[in-house]
Amino acid sequence: MKVLVINGPNLNLLGKREPGVYGSNTLIDLEKSLLTFGEKLNCEVTCFQSNHEGDLIDAIHEADEQYNGIIINPGAFTHYSYAIRDAIAGISIPVIEVHISNVHAREEFRHTSVTAPVTAGQIIGLGFKGYELAILALKDRTGGMN
Ligand code: DQA
Repeated sequence: MKVLVINGPNLNLLGKREPGVYGSNTLIDLEKSLLTFGEKLNCEVTCFQSNHEGDLIDAIHEADEQYNGIIINPGAFTHYSYAIRDAIAGISIPVIEVHISNVHAREEFRHTSVTAPVTAGQIIGLGFKGYELAILALKDRTGGMN
């Protein structure tokens, strides 16, 4: 099984960006731990991060042919990018949305996700653990395929 983990804008700053909200671990720490977690499950994890909407859309399109599922944290694009929503709606593999922080306990504008309705589900507010739970959910959803 092959999974693509996509992190959107400003998530490259994990570790130094608002550590009280996102913790002190870096994006590299997250990506390394997901690769190790995936290996234990016989799941090949690939990670991608971009601050650019079009690059995120291209990655979503290309993943359709190459992966069994996507885990995406679209960052602030979650709250207003109809283009990313349409990209997710346009592919056939399952997509799980993850947010590190509990967006519902934060500013009002973070309470809306325009992308969530076209995903298989959302995992919110559980820190980096949310990505691991998403891998497990994808594995389950795709029948635990190798
Ligand atoms: C986030 C929440 C978003 O509101 C924010 O813009 C982010 C990170 C999260 O993981 O908690 O960049 O997606």
